[in-house]
Amino acid sequence: MKQFNNSITVSAPGKLMLLGEHAVVYGRPCIVTAVNQRMRVTVELIDQPVLELNAPDVQVTDYKKPMSNLGQGNIPTGAKFVEIAVKNFLNCHPERLAKDINLYSSASPQNDKFGVKITTSSEFSSQFGFGSSSAATVCIIYALSELTRQNLDNKQSLRSDDLKAIFDLSYKTVLDIQGKGSGFDVAAAVYGGTLYFVTDGKLIKPFKIDQLPIIIGYSGIKFDTVRLIDEVAKKAEKYPFIINNIYDQIAKLVKKAKKAILTTDFITLGELMNFNEGYLSTLGVEGKKLADMIYAARDAGAYGAKLSGAGIGDCMIAIAAEDKKQTVANAITQAGGQVIDVKVNAKGVRIEL
Ligand code: PMV
Repeated sequence: MKQFNNSITVSAPGKLMLLGEHAVVYGRPCIVTAVNQRMRVTVELIDQPVLELNAPDVQVTDYKKPMSNLGQGNIPTGAKFVEIAVKNFLNCHPERLAKDINLYSSASPQNDKFGVKITTSSEFSSQFGFGSSSAATVCIIYALSELTRQNLDNKQSLRSDDLKAIFDLSYKTVLDIQGKGSGFDVAAAVYGGTLYFVTDGKLIKPFKIDQLPIIIGYSGIKFDTVRLIDEVAKKAEKYPFIINNIYDQIAKLVKKAKKAILTTDFITLGELMNFNEGYLSTLGVEGKKLADMIYAARDAGAYGAKLSGAGIGDCMIAIAAEDKKQTVANAITQAGGQVIDVKVNAKGVRIEL
């Protein structure tokens, strides 16, 4: 039987880049894993034509915007991804929201008399660079598409077409705001698990693995991802013969790393991570603090260590034998990092009961 709810809570995981950053912006593959710290979003369809947002984690309280003005005027940073996600969903599916709200709302039968009330809360600090904005975007698009679905009977079984549609619209939202990015973070939020991912979602291949013996260290430094992408792009313009070669080498090592992960050959995986770090250092995105933490981890016996993400700040990762993990974690702490206890391979976007 068809049933209509006017409220839903969904959650999506954060992400951690394992290998392939920067090169993945330019048509090469990367490997990304979803982490078990999640963004939760409650979306309610309301019969007033406003977007209402409460996102206390990013200092947004009682934000209101007429639905007809979405995307216009000044938008506080913490509200941007949510507002543009709602706008993009409406532009794609105006009939769905209008039609379904009429079915349960006797107060306002007109099509232009509906709105959305959203509350977000995140389990992870937006500081770590786990991709809270992308996770929130994916939650909004998924929640709206579930709330306005024509056929709710099938809602337990999201087909791969549905997942790709959620990825595409969420990725468009991120690009509308940031202008750049491969979409790897959006893919992790949608699909979860560990993914072999090629630029723009040209290829998104989940691979079945268990936990990886990784240690994550947070540098305490925040640096702008888009600025780093731009800086690398400038180098590529001036030295295309060097930088394009580096991207190609990174693509090769990512392919090898995929095999190493699938065969649980963590020694090889560690060596490939070290190669990857060397290339990232050549691109100029390593940074002293991350380098200190990475070298400390290697000296303490890690198989390998590298930065994770755009570089300079956020996190580094190390891979080590189980009996070395604690020593490696201590070394990262001594180098000034904060070890973060998260599990990888978390579930993708889902409805929370
Ligand atoms: O800084 P992060 O965690 O958002 O990672 C950025 C990774 C890049 O490859 C530099 C950009 C991208 O969108 O792939």
